Amino acid sequence: MKNTEKHPEYIISATKDFSEATNKSQLDSAKAMYIGPKSHIYTEFKKLSTLTGQPRADLGRQLNNYKNVLDQLYRSALDRISGGSDFEPIDMSQPKSYKSIANFGHKHPTSQILSDSYDIFTGLGFAIVDSDEIETDWYNFEALNMPETHPAREMQDTFYIEGSKINLVPRTHTSGTQIRFMENNKPPFKIVVPGRVFRNEDEDATHIWSFYQLEGLVVGEGVSVADLKGTLLRVVRGLLGPEADIRFRASYFPYTEPSVELDCKYQGKWLELGGAGMVHPQVLLNGGIDPSIYTGFAFGWGVERLANIKYGLTDLRELWRPRFSFMEQF
Ligand code: DAH
Repeated sequence: MKNTEKHPEYIISATKDFSEATNKSQLDSAKAMYIGPKSHIYTEFKKLSTLTGQPRADLGRQLNNYKNVLDQLYRSALDRISGGSDFEPIDMSQPKSYKSIANFGHKHPTSQILSDSYDIFTGLGFAIVDSDEIETDWYNFEALNMPETHPAREMQDTFYIEGSKINLVPRTHTSGTQIRFMENNKPPFKIVVPGRVFRNEDEDATHIWSFYQLEGLVVGEGVSVADLKGTLLRVVRGLLGPEADIRFRASYFPYTEPSVELDCKYQGKWLELGGAGMVHPQVLLNGGIDPSIYTGFAFGWGVERLANIKYGLTDLRELWRPRFSFMEQF
């Protein structure tokens, strides 16, 4: 290990104790002290659940780094003592729950971003709404002003399900749930809809055939673009830290008018996050809501894209691969 002086006291003393252990019982006590359930790092990990946003991400990254260092110290001491065997000897007399903290996992980055988002949105009074991954053509396209011949369908080419009486599709976005929710609820309401979506994509570093989206819908009397912008700024800062910023670029979605692309600025760079706009009056009508009384805003973004921005990933596909060496970096 290089740069010991940069590590806290307990890493320095762990280095000493692990390297001085000459038999299994000395190694076991060093293991219990530095990576066992009563260790300092274990207590620090527990603190993570009291934090959110950037401070949580920073502490998590730091602790994972320390955990990896401790784990490695333990493994090389074990190697030395056991004469280079790759396998940790298993003590069959230990209770079944015996497990070192070094083997604990953590949330997948996509799940982490989703749970941070739930914290922020519920704090703003939003409800989280669940919905189905298989959708009818009506909710996925038609009710959102995308009839069969509409060119906007092309951007969301999908896998159609053959042989069903009603046209079913693995949903291409979570926006269909807007209509479903409007049909069954009276305004005012504020909801977010997380969920997996599917597209007929040629995969590359920035496109995958299935990913997670987070959709938002707010409907009430007098809801305005200012509410949209204020809400999104608050959410993006909650997720990426107080330095983050947002901007709107004019755009087009058949279900919003006006429509915007949402960019966010993180660590000095502007990156596209998703789409948003004021709910189109016809879409309100399709959901059974009177557009002469109510207005609303909606937005949607890819959760993996947010992970990309936050963690500076270069290839979205990594988030769908079961590679420990990649996941351990978070
Ligand atoms: N459904 C869009 C997509 O999948 C994202 C989106 C754009 C959602 C604008 C919205 C919106 O609710 O208002 O790319």
